[in-house]
Amino acid sequence: MWNSRRVLVTGGASFVGSHLVDALVKRKAKVRVVDDLSSGKLENIKGHIKSSKVVFLKGDLKDANVIKKAINGIDTVFHLAADHGGRGYVDLHQAACASNMMLDGMLFDVCRRQGVKKIVYASSGCVYPNYLQTDPKKILYLKEKMVGPPYDADNMYGWAKLMAEMTLKAYYKDYGMKSASCRYFTVYGERGVENHAVIAMIAHGALSVYPVRTCINNIGFDGSGIHCGISGKYDTRFTDILKNAKLVFPPDINEDKKITTATVNFINMPSMRNAL
Ligand SMILES: NC(=O)c1ccc[n+]([C@@H]2O[C@H](COP(=O)([O-])OP(=O)(O)OC[C@H]3O[C@@H](n4cnc5c(N)ncnc54)[C@H](O)[C@@H]3O)[C@@H](O)[C@H]2O)c1
Repeated sequence: MWNSRRVLVTGGASFVGSHLVDALVKRKAKVRVVDDLSSGKLENIKGHIKSSKVVFLKGDLKDANVIKKAINGIDTVFHLAADHGGRGYVDLHQAACASNMMLDGMLFDVCRRQGVKKIVYASSGCVYPNYLQTDPKKILYLKEKMVGPPYDADNMYGWAKLMAEMTLKAYYKDYGMKSASCRYFTVYGERGVENHAVIAMIAHGALSVYPVRTCINNIGFDGSGIHCGISGKYDTRFTDILKNAKLVFPPDINEDKKITTATVNFINMPSMRNAL
């Protein structure tokens, strides 16, 4: 299905985008990536560029000439480029996030004019109404239709994502251009960045679980896993926990044969799962 299909991934150097690029390359699609590298890293797709499996175009998609160049000859567009950040960013950067509306609108219009067959759009859980999510004690399973009306998206970031979804629906109705909007929720994993809420929650969960909390003196995340330093109050039960956890990198062992630092995938540990 993807063999030789001409695909553009906007924001393809990002955390999510680069995993998508991996999957498309695996399926033998002809992949072009456009990214301004404002938050994406070339490192994430360097291997594919080196092996000529991906053509990389550096440019700002708010520039109409960049969009035209990027879309030229493309069948399918995965649109992930966006001004985006974690919880704090969405709360504090209204104008920056609003610029996504311009970027999306310009891109969709060129896609229509140049006969792109399908757009797959990276939307967000932030399109769901705030008013449904005010009670932290209430377990809520969001369903697709709950998005509205009435609409009450999460800050300008959420509104921009919602507007893009609605624009794509209108483009299908009026021009027949096909699209799919995928609402990502707090994605995490390899190549992820630290400013996302789930990472803070995992770290918080890790620190609250005994005996981990007695052993850890610092905790950090770099996209490959959670690093922790082990304090002087060393507890052998922590070694047992580490043995059961999937170690992303081998731990450093100090002269006393004690683990001093380790990178651990805490999510694989049942005690951590319960803590989240
Ligand atoms: N990570 C999540 O939990 C999550 C959740 C919901 C939605 N999303 C959406 O998924 C997409 C990818 O997110 P991510 O977390 O991988 O990282 P990200 O937000 O860093 O990805 C955005 C990418 O777009 C590029 N970019 C930004 N502005 C650009 C511009 N004007 N021109 C060209 N490129 C530009 C950035 O350099 C980056 O590579 C985004 O659209 C984001 O809104 C992510």
